[in-house]
Formats: sequence, structure tokens, C-alpha cells
Amino acid sequence: MWQPPERIKHALPVVNWPSAEQAAAAKLFSPVRIGPTQLTSRTWIPAMVPWRATNEGLVTDDVVDWYARFAKGRPGAIVVEATGIRDVPSGPLMRAGHERFVPGLRRLVEAVKNASNGETKLFIQLIDFLQIKRRPPTDKYFSRFLAIRPQHREALAALEEAPHFETCDEALVRDHLATLSSEQLAGILDARELDALQKGYRERVWDTHLEHIRDLPTTLPGLFANAAGHVLDAGFDGVELHYAHAYTMASFLSALNTRDDGYGGSQENRVKLPLEVIAAVRAVVPEDKVLGLRFLGDEVIDGGSRLDDALFYATKFAEAGVDFLSLSKGGKFEDAKVPKVGDAVYPYTGPSGYECMPSVFSDAQGPFGRNVGLSEAVKKTLNDAGHSIPIVAAGGIGTFEMAEAILQAGEADIIGAARQCIADPDWFLKVRLGHGESVRRCEYTNYCEGLDQKHKQVTCKLWDRKQLDDDDVTLDHSGRRRLTAPAWTP
Ligand SMILES: Cc1cc2nc3c(=O)[nH]c(=O)nc-3n(C[C@H](O)[C@H](O)[C@H](O)COP(=O)(O)O)c2cc1C
Ligand code: SF4
Repeated sequence: MWQPPERIKHALPVVNWPSAEQAAAAKLFSPVRIGPTQLTSRTWIPAMVPWRATNEGLVTDDVVDWYARFAKGRPGAIVVEATGIRDVPSGPLMRAGHERFVPGLRRLVEAVKNASNGETKLFIQLIDFLQIKRRPPTDKYFSRFLAIRPQHREALAALEEAPHFETCDEALVRDHLATLSSEQLAGILDARELDALQKGYRERVWDTHLEHIRDLPTTLPGLFANAAGHVLDAGFDGVELHYAHAYTMASFLSALNTRDDGYGGSQENRVKLPLEVIAAVRAVVPEDKVLGLRFLGDEVIDGGSRLDDALFYATKFAEAGVDFLSLSKGGKFEDAKVPKVGDAVYPYTGPSGYECMPSVFSDAQGPFGRNVGLSEAVKKTLNDAGHSIPIVAAGGIGTFEMAEAILQAGEADIIGAARQCIADPDWFLKVRLGHGESVRRCEYTNYCEGLDQKHKQVTCKLWDRKQLDDDDVTLDHSGRRRLTAPAWTP
């Protein structure tokens, strides 16, 4: 994973855990209304993909165990991992694009309700993403994938001072291109072709020459609504639309979106499809269920959307009647690390990925509460405009004091803790009961994120080799790591 060049190692914040009485009086453990429902506390586990579904996108026992384990810590809400809206093969990513996924999802809901004694609300994140291919070997790219254009021939002829490249057999052009250096290729291929060579081919939402991309504004509202219908049938308390990071909806919102069909260019055009999706999903969400979304306060990439875009979008989303907004940051393909040949580019490996899941190897600012400024600005803008929908903050928040200070300062309404909840799924409960000293504290060094990157079952380095002889321990594919945190009894 990319790290800021300063590479300052930040120590974990010093903690003074509250007593049970102090916790009971804290804002963190006070209820908060979300649309038609109420969370018993302002504690939230944001969406995280732990790679436990089947290759057909079905819920497994391991998926159920993972969320039931979180639920034992009684957070106010859990958002289940990014779940695909289409009924197409997507590897071991959970899916909701067909009613055959409903029974597994229902089992998941029931397990969370049982484990939390009905206390934790359960939402699920719905995602769409475009096609992405693995980085090809150079010879394969030139022999099979690159579409040779007259410009390639002309540039090659000029480079080699060999006019025959303008007219010769295409195979000769392909063979010769495969022998050139990156610098030479930079003068011949366009930016997209170079990107496809170095990182693998990837569709963009502004590839309107492709029919299925041109048609996204027609197809996506229905696909999201269909998937939302299935998860609500399964008993989820609500839906979180994934408008963040590197995926389709965030790409519509991106300032890089140059579609010229009314869905790209200006902020108004870029937010049009996201609003149409909200309207379509809202139509299938019953009055007692929640519809919220997660989006980026800042894309943190050259030419991308910044905070001013996010403030504009937040106002539009609030006007459209969403019940909560969850803020994230970065996580884009554009600045991601060049993958190895045969691997796919991963959107959390560049500077924007760092901002999404900041580690303790940081710049002077450090990882803790790093993204709170975004939720604060969004909350202020909305409150000033008379909107009061709750705002969820996340990013390096792993202590009671930090969480409580953010809430007290009005910088967010709900505290999301992703990695701290992997490290210790009981931590909210421990703090609430006055057992803060037994919290297993996340070290924010991103071992879990490294597993995620390789699509390996996500675990935590602090517990995955511990107490392997406990009853009912399930192990990962390697047989060496346990899949859920050891039990805790107060
Ligand atoms: C293993 C892993 C998987 C993640 N998967 C998702 C996801 O499916 N959807 C999403 O919006 N964010 C995802 N995230 C980002 C987290 O929700 C969260 O925003 C980020 O980790 C920062 O919060 P933290 O500092 O509390 O961990 C993931 C993070 C991790 C570590
Ligand atoms: S592996 Fe554990 S300690 Fe390390 S960042 Fe992930 S959750 Fe935190």
C-alpha cells in the first residue's frame, strides 16, 4: 500500500477509558433517529468485504458467523459488505440481483438479530461496478488486445524513420510495438491504451461508444431497485447505496466524468443518475425501512471531485430524501499502483487509497480522525440549509474519547469504525460496560487490508493465530488462521 513519503510512524492515541456510568452519559451511546427508525447508539460498522461468499455470490456459514460476531458487540448499526446488484458472475462478492440470493441473506439477517438481541440495525451496501481486466503480458497486449489505428502506424514510422510501418502487414506493427520501451510507447499509444497496457483494460462510465455503458442511465435505476427489493424481502432494515470509491456511481459523480449525454460534465449532470437511482430505489423501500448512501467527501485524485462537489451532492441527496449520508474518501483506480502481470489493479494502493484506509505510517497529520473534516463540512452545510439527516464519519476513529469529541463538536452524528471493529468486534460493548481496558486496539498497519487486496479471507493479525483450539473455531483456506475473533465474556 502507498504511504505518505514522510513515513512518520504515529503512536496509537493515549486512552482514558470511561467508567460504565460515564459511558452511559456519553453521546456515543445515546440513540439517534435515522429516517423511520432509531439506532440505540451512535456506533456503526461501515461496509467491509471479508471475502467469505461463494463464487456464485451466495451467503455462506462464514459470512453469517462474521456478521453475528460483530453483532455480539451490539453496535447501533452494521452495514453489510458491498453486494452486487447484477445477476452476473462476480467472483466471491455477495450478490442480490436475483431472488435466489434471498434465503441466504435472510439467514444473515436472522443471525445478526439473534446475536444482538434485536438491538443492532442491519443495512446492506449495494454496489455496481464496471468491467476490469487483469494486467496482460506485454506481448499478449500487442498481439491480441490493442486495436491498431493509423496514428499508431504513423507514430511508429516516424519513431523508427521507417515509412513501411504505415502500410505493412498489421502483424509486423504489433510485433515491433512489443519491443519498444515505455518511453517510446508513450509517444505512440494514447493515455487509455497505455493505461490498459500497464494496469489492464478497464471500462469508464464515459465510454459511451459501448452500448451497455451508454445505456447505464436506463438500466441502473431498475437494477438497484430490483436488488433493494430482494434485500428488503430478506429482512434488512435498510439499504446503503454505494456511491463511493472506484465504482460506477462514484464515477458518475466524479469531475472526471465527461459523458456528453446529460449525465456528465457539470455537477448537475453528474448527480443526475445518482438522483434517478435514489428515486427508483425509494419507490421500493417501504415506509418503515431506511435508504441511505455512502459517497466521497473528496476523491483525492488529479482532476477529480473535491469537497465543494461533495457539498453540492450532499444537498441534492438530502433534498432527494435519503435517510443518512456516510462519508468516505479516496479509494480510486486512477492513482492505483501498477499491478503485477496477471493481477487486477486495486483501487486502494495509491495516495487516494491511503486516504480511504489511512495507516500509522503517515504524514504529520496522521491517520486518526483524518477524514472528520469532510463529515464536519457536509454536516454544517446541510444543517445550515435546514437538513438534519444524520452524517456518519469514519477513518481512523478507534477510541472512545475521539468518537465522543467528534460527536460533541457536532462534526458527525454517528461514528463508523471499520478496522477497530475487525480488531475487536466487542469494543463498543466493552466501552459501554466500563471494560475499556480490555479493548484489543487496532494498530492501523493494514494487514487486513493486504488480505482484502489479494481477495483472501479478511482477518486481524491480533487474533487470527490465537486460541485455535477454542470450540467451534473455523479456519481459513490455508488452515492456519481463525476466521472470527475469540469470544469475550464480560
Ligand atoms: C477489509 C476492508 C474491506 C472494506 N470494504 C469496503 C466496502 O465493501 N465498502 C465500503 O464502502 N468501504 C469498505 N472499506 C472501507 C471501510 O468501510 C472504512 O471506510 C475504512 O476502513 C476507514 O475506516 P477505519 O479507519 O475505521 O477502518 C473496507 C475496509 C477494509 C479494511
Ligand atoms: S489487521 Fe487488525 S490491527 Fe491490523 S489494521 Fe487490520 S484490524 Fe487493525
